[in-house]
Amino acid sequence: MPSRADITYFGAGPALLPTPVLAHAAEALLNYKDTGLGIAEHSHRSQYAADIINQAKADLATYLDIPDDYEVLFMQGGGSGEFSATVYNLVGAWVARKKVEILKQMGAQSEEGADSEELVSRLKKAVDTDLKLDYLVTGGWSLKAYQEAGRLLGPEYTNLAVDSRTVNDGKFGKIPDESAWKLSKEAAMVYYCDNETVDGVEFPEFPKSLGPDSNGVAPIVVADMSSNILSRRIPVETFSVIFFGAQKNLGSTGVTVVIIKKNLLPPACPQPSPALLRKLGLPVPPVIFSYETIAKNNSLYNTLSIFDVFIAGQVLKQLLTTFPDKVDGQQAVANQKAEAIYSALEAYPNIYKIVPDKSVRSRMNICFRVTAGGDTAGAEAKFLQGATAQGLTGLKGHRSVGGIRASNYNSIPLAGALKLVDFIEKFAQMAPDIVLAAK
Ligand SMILES: Cc1ncc(COP(=O)(O)O)c(C=O)c1O
Repeated sequence: MPSRADITYFGAGPALLPTPVLAHAAEALLNYKDTGLGIAEHSHRSQYAADIINQAKADLATYLDIPDDYEVLFMQGGGSGEFSATVYNLVGAWVARKKVEILKQMGAQSEEGADSEELVSRLKKAVDTDLKLDYLVTGGWSLKAYQEAGRLLGPEYTNLAVDSRTVNDGKFGKIPDESAWKLSKEAAMVYYCDNETVDGVEFPEFPKSLGPDSNGVAPIVVADMSSNILSRRIPVETFSVIFFGAQKNLGSTGVTVVIIKKNLLPPACPQPSPALLRKLGLPVPPVIFSYETIAKNNSLYNTLSIFDVFIAGQVLKQLLTTFPDKVDGQQAVANQKAEAIYSALEAYPNIYKIVPDKSVRSRMNICFRVTAGGDTAGAEAKFLQGATAQGLTGLKGHRSVGGIRASNYNSIPLAGALKLVDFIEKFAQMAPDIVLAAK
């Protein structure tokens, strides 16, 4: 029976967690701070819970250099929950802004001072003609988010600004040149997924066309960073919302983090009332998906899994201790590991085919096929079998695309990545024999 030390797990999420973090968590689960009670049993209203949340928020802000005009929320519902939450909240913020604009046009100081029928009718017209949510669809997860927006609002409110499949024979694997993006004017949000976990596609940097225009006006940018957060420096100030499930680079499944610019929250931007949204024919957000509600309650509107926040906090502490230069230090290691794996694959073009285009290769999810001997399915089965025998597990590609996927998250040590490199090389050197022998 293998021990933890024998296994390097390349699963895409839930992902490997650092052993010292788990050892500490195991103790905390039984008896937290000598209270005779475990951390999963203490009340989420206790001072212990508040301290864990506040420390994790502070450490995340330190590690990523999150500016003061951003709030950090711990939510539930996973990345998929955020596909819906972003729609509700950003549509709400758009309506709130339009309302202020229309009240100004009407010469009214406040909603009370306006003829409410006139206000609603003008707002409804604005919704019908101008409300648009832009989606850059570059892989399976942004596609799901786009589809969810269409399901909640109606497809007439969504704009497929980018569909990567149109430039890559119907498959994901490239990102069209920015000059071809069809962005709307004043979209309620421009949504994209920074790293597509299934397809191995990562934006190489923040897209230039989402930055401020010549008048300094920038679009409202929302990004799913579920599978590459904490692995590279991000210009937080260019985003309105960044969200990520914890279960890849941050911690255990069960909490989802939202980093949100405060200008989307009260007092700057109070969400429209349910009554107004109903009059406009727009969906009313479930209260647990309301950023305003979660922010007002410091993430404790309802029972949050404090144990999962504790794990996330421990991972952040370990990152801050290991990398005095914070995310830049981790970024250097992540890049080094990814380069080593890609170089090993590139060295054997007759054996391996890297799936995405070189310009958008993910540093986190390295997707490739084993084409040796012309029998891809047979060669991949042999590759997985041989890797498992070496303690290299979790390498099977996502069920929707097949192939091999090495998820190179932060918890994979350099030595683990190099062990995979070694196996890639050894397998390539004997691959034709293996595949022929299997026939
Ligand atoms: C990039 C990305 N976004 C969203 C999700 C969905 O997350 P969840 O399963 O927590 O809903 C995943 C899941 O793997 C993902 O990789």
